Amino acid sequence: VRLWAVIPAAGTGSRFGAATAKQYLSLGDKSVIEHSMSKLLGREDIAALVVALHPEDSHFSSLPIANDPRVRPVVGGAERSDSVELALNALAGEAADTDWVLVHDAARPCVSQQDIHTLLERGCAHAVGAILASPVVDTVKRSNAEGEIVETVDRNNMWRALTPQLFRYGQLRDALAYCREKHLSVTDEASALERCGQRPLLVAASHRNIKITYPDDLAIAAVFLEGEQQ
Ligand code: CTP
Ligand code: MG
Repeated sequence: VRLWAVIPAAGTGSRFGAATAKQYLSLGDKSVIEHSMSKLLGREDIAALVVALHPEDSHFSSLPIANDPRVRPVVGGAERSDSVELALNALAGEAADTDWVLVHDAARPCVSQQDIHTLLERGCAHAVGAILASPVVDTVKRSNAEGEIVETVDRNNMWRALTPQLFRYGQLRDALAYCREKHLSVTDEASALERCGQRPLLVAASHRNIKITYPDDLAIAAVFLEGEQQ
């Protein structure tokens, strides 16, 4: 059984609002995506890392890390789930259905190698696979169309889904294809598996594993990465 990795990096960062897609902005000594890729490439057991890029990407090929022999760029799709599906397609014929795939957002540069290790240990021992996640800390409300509170959702047993997420190659590919055909919205890999009746495992991760979404997140990530080097 082999281990593969996929990084969806085909987004345009519309919420961030910069002229350059957020994954290419600099964060300390390198760009956001180089941090995210390095965290995965630090593991020698990853056979290849497929990176899904925007069709008009003009930044990736000039990154030093693009020359790593395990790195394979492919063109991504309109939604994150399309990008992941296209990246998985690039491994067809090479990856076995029972091989494991780690999927990690380009926009999460602060994931720790310890959390990746724990995810692999616990996920590979689980029937379906696992995702990094973080317990919800705020009180959570459900609203109606008027923006009024309908109820307070019990925050016990509520988690925020992070990445990496770890699934079997064949099962993930089939689940994403099923959701695409049925027009089911899928914002992470686990939700595709859930739609197919599976129950992936949650693995508690460091709260430092933030997704760069808004400009302030870059400053927060810089502080977290500085702490890592100590
Ligand atoms: N992504 C992708 N293909 C898409 C959309 C997103 O590969 N069609 C990637 C992004 O590049 C990012 C990850 O999925 O690494 C998480 O998505 P998100 O944080 O939503 O990034 P963007 O879609 O770029 O940002 P926004 O939603 O604000 O436009
Ligand atoms: Mg998006």
